[in-house]
Amino acid sequence: MKALVTGGAGFVGGTVVHALLDAGHAVVVVDNLSSGTADQVPEGATFVELSVGNAPAITEVLRATSFDVCFHFAGLIAAGASMVEPETFFANNVGETLSLLQCLVAAGVDRFVFSSSAAVYGEPLYTPIDESHRTETVSPYGESKLLVEHSLAWLARLGRIRYAALRYFNAAGAVHGRPELHVPETHLIPLALEVAAGDRTSLDLYGDDYPTPDGTCIRDYIHVADLATAHIAAAQILDDEPAFVCNLGTGTGSSNAEVVEAVRKVTGRDVAVRVGPRRPGDSSTLVAANDRARAVLRWEPVRSSLEAIVSDAWAARVEAGEPT
Ligand SMILES: NC(=O)c1ccc[n+]([C@@H]2O[C@H](COP(=O)([O-])OP(=O)(O)OC[C@H]3O[C@@H](n4cnc5c(N)ncnc54)[C@H](O)[C@@H]3O)[C@@H](O)[C@H]2O)c1
Repeated sequence: MKALVTGGAGFVGGTVVHALLDAGHAVVVVDNLSSGTADQVPEGATFVELSVGNAPAITEVLRATSFDVCFHFAGLIAAGASMVEPETFFANNVGETLSLLQCLVAAGVDRFVFSSSAAVYGEPLYTPIDESHRTETVSPYGESKLLVEHSLAWLARLGRIRYAALRYFNAAGAVHGRPELHVPETHLIPLALEVAAGDRTSLDLYGDDYPTPDGTCIRDYIHVADLATAHIAAAQILDDEPAFVCNLGTGTGSSNAEVVEAVRKVTGRDVAVRVGPRRPGDSSTLVAANDRARAVLRWEPVRSSLEAIVSDAWAARVEAGEPT
């Protein structure tokens, strides 16, 4: 297939581009490099530096190639930052996405795979969280994902587009020497690896008095390689499932303390930890029910053990020449 990949200079998008190229698909990446870097666009993909909200330029890209599908990863991702600059998040994640959708519909590109997030659920009422859990967001970031999902549902209902909204839990791990490097980094595993590498003096853990076995928060880490196979499967089922929403997670959680221990074990280095008070907005436990993804996508995570995730993330840092 011919795929337009937005945000393909970023962590998850770039990994999916690799997987698409490996499977023999043609890929054009559109990214404005607001957080990604051009050297992270995999070789073999055509790269166009562009914001997805630039309608005339996107229309040109769509004129040049007859795409079968658009994978939409482009977006601002830090929920904390969205509490400080909500207007920027809504403009980028919602406004620019709706503009992109308008261009796609006009060009007749009617398959759309969207990077949604577990953040659409807000504070969980129960766990594992399934897709019928109520959506009551607690940040502009989560709301930006939900607003796009709602728009997609209407476009699908009115026959404009087929879509899959994939609600990732915590993307982690690495492939092809592409370490997870967000700026600023807010994700636990890369932060812990930075401490192990000596780039950072200590790791802040927010709260050790949660109602979990070791008192630290529990999250569901999904390897980017497993996310990539799920995306390709999602693009391929859209003929049968024209409006598809599903979680992408493992169904198992790891506590912050377990992550730190895995980083110590894999790297053979110490990871100094500073335990502080709980952070507002952090849920105790976020774990996905992934039965729908398994059944409909015929997908299962095969690389998402905590040890494999941390080992691959560390190996990618080493391969990329990051300080270790
Ligand atoms: N990483 C996670 O754990 C996680 C979890 C849930 C959902 N997601 C979603 O997955 C997607 C990818 O996440 P990631 O971790 O790879 O983030 P990332 O920051 O590494 O990649 C996002 C990419 O989008 C680009 N971008 C942002 N706004 C753009 C715009 N308007 N036009 C063109 N390019 C733009 C950035 O330059 C960057 O390369 C995001 O939409 C994010 O919200 C990520």
